Amino acid sequence: MVTPRLLESLPLRERIARNRLWLPPMCTYSAAEDGVVTPWHVVHYGARAAGGFGTVVVEATAVSPRGRLSPRDLGLWEDAQVAGHSRLVEAIHASGSLAGVQLGHGGRKAGTPPWRPDAVGARQGTLAGWDLVAPSALAYPGHATPRELDLTEVRALVETFAQAAGRAVAAGYDLVELHGAHGYLLHEFLSPLSNHRTDAYGGTTAGRRRLVLEVVEAVREAVGDAVLGIRLSATDWTAGGLTGEQTAELAPLLVGAGADVLHVSTGGNVPAKVPVAPGYQVPFAARVRDAVAATATPVVTVGVMRSATQAEQILVTGQADAVAVGRPALLDPSLPLRWARDLGTEGWQAQGVPVPYWRGVWAS
Ligand SMILES: Cc1cc2nc3c(=O)[nH]c(=O)nc-3n(C[C@H](O)[C@H](O)[C@H](O)COP(=O)(O)O)c2cc1C
Repeated sequence: MVTPRLLESLPLRERIARNRLWLPPMCTYSAAEDGVVTPWHVVHYGARAAGGFGTVVVEATAVSPRGRLSPRDLGLWEDAQVAGHSRLVEAIHASGSLAGVQLGHGGRKAGTPPWRPDAVGARQGTLAGWDLVAPSALAYPGHATPRELDLTEVRALVETFAQAAGRAVAAGYDLVELHGAHGYLLHEFLSPLSNHRTDAYGGTTAGRRRLVLEVVEAVREAVGDAVLGIRLSATDWTAGGLTGEQTAELAPLLVGAGADVLHVSTGGNVPAKVPVAPGYQVPFAARVRDAVAATATPVVTVGVMRSATQAEQILVTGQADAVAVGRPALLDPSLPLRWARDLGTEGWQAQGVPVPYWRGVWAS
């Protein structure tokens, strides 16, 4: 029987993901007040590793308290948070998945959990008692106006990300994914819609890319042999914002700065009309993949993946190297096993899935 592409292993630097299904980062807002991992996270992520995902990426984890999206975000801004992440990594590894963590800073959308857009700081800037900071003093519509970061603060962010990445590696993560998407701080710097700076970190396309590239370089240094990824919003879906073409131009620069894998999403920086449909973000991933073909850098696609055959087709046609499936996996941790079955394979039997689970696959 031919192994479906979805179940083929994926080399990532010195690591190998057992298959090409990714659990993308999804905030659960369930940390202890001090950003520490709880037993709940161990169960949640451990279950999805047991369910067969090749790579499990833990939700956006704040590099500084001010970068949190809510008071219950996970953090890696201090050493005391490392031990909890180690337990999480252990649980993910126990079922044979690579363990990743997304490191982020919410910028002007910090302190604003999506289900309470009216709450925060939307008006006060202080839902959780912290001020919002951003490249420019431009509010996300309906949210509080952030304070513009001064040059010293911008430069300090590079070290803040690097230190958090060092802690992630100390916790045992195989992969550190930088959150450069969805309108959070790094994306805010990249986009002309949210970055109106006139200093070295704005003004021109190169200026707006400077912080992201400096962060990638510093984090590369901090993570050593671990895998470094970055998630991007390829387009702002808005005139005057980032375009797929610009993101394709940026991609080789990110690889040159040290990124090993690129995860292509879209949107989130400004309210926009987005043509959401199955696989609607795949063309953006394909374009990025073409742009980094010379280095064979793997590209992950995401967004409304409805079936195993859809995902398999994306891989077979060379539009991406891995497929991330988010919301469906919130309710179905064993989605990879089901999808493997749907593709008519029992290849998952060789992927470390506990034998009793096989009976579940056959019976469901
Ligand atoms: C509850 C929830 C939390 C999310 N949190 C994050 C996050 O922490 N970081 C991120 O980059 N994307 C986040 N996302 C976006 C997902 O990673 C994914 O890109 C999106 O859900 C589209 O994929 P899907 O159609 O497979 O769900 C979140 C999505 C959901 C539904």
